[in-house]
Amino acid sequence: MIKTIYILNGPNLNLLGTREPEIYGAATLGDIETSCLQKCKAAGYDLSFHQSNIEGEIVDQIQEAGHKGAAVLINAAAYTHTSVAIYDALKTLKPLGIPVIEVHISQPASRETFRLKSFVAPVATGSISGFGTNSYLLAIDAAIDSLS
Ligand code: DQA
Repeated sequence: MIKTIYILNGPNLNLLGTREPEIYGAATLGDIETSCLQKCKAAGYDLSFHQSNIEGEIVDQIQEAGHKGAAVLINAAAYTHTSVAIYDALKTLKPLGIPVIEVHISQPASRETFRLKSFVAPVATGSISGFGTNSYLLAIDAAIDSLS
């Protein structure tokens, strides 16, 4: 059976392409999905790609990944820095053997101090930040490496 990699995106990432391009670049979320799909397919994985501005919907997607996913990549965006609910949901994936990769386009540690706190990092297998939209492709490599 083909394994599915879940890529979950949090608030305001639907605005990529026009949102602060000096920080996040010119690529849209659709562009990112296309390149992630190509990479997953080439490696023999299915992709389930989501974005939501709503915290509870992201929790629902994490729970779905717990039933149907092999690995989870998550750019929780601003919820990275605030969400105990996302922390709790991601924590349920570890006993299921599902690797979690934290992804950021920018390098939050080099920005405002409120971005230093991550509720995702303590429940992630690892984190990839600061490589622009290439962070997603590097995270797919990391997820596949964790699965093999
Ligand atoms: C982000 C970094 C977060 O601090 C910010 O709130 C985002 C995007 C990134 O991908 O660089 O919305 O997750």
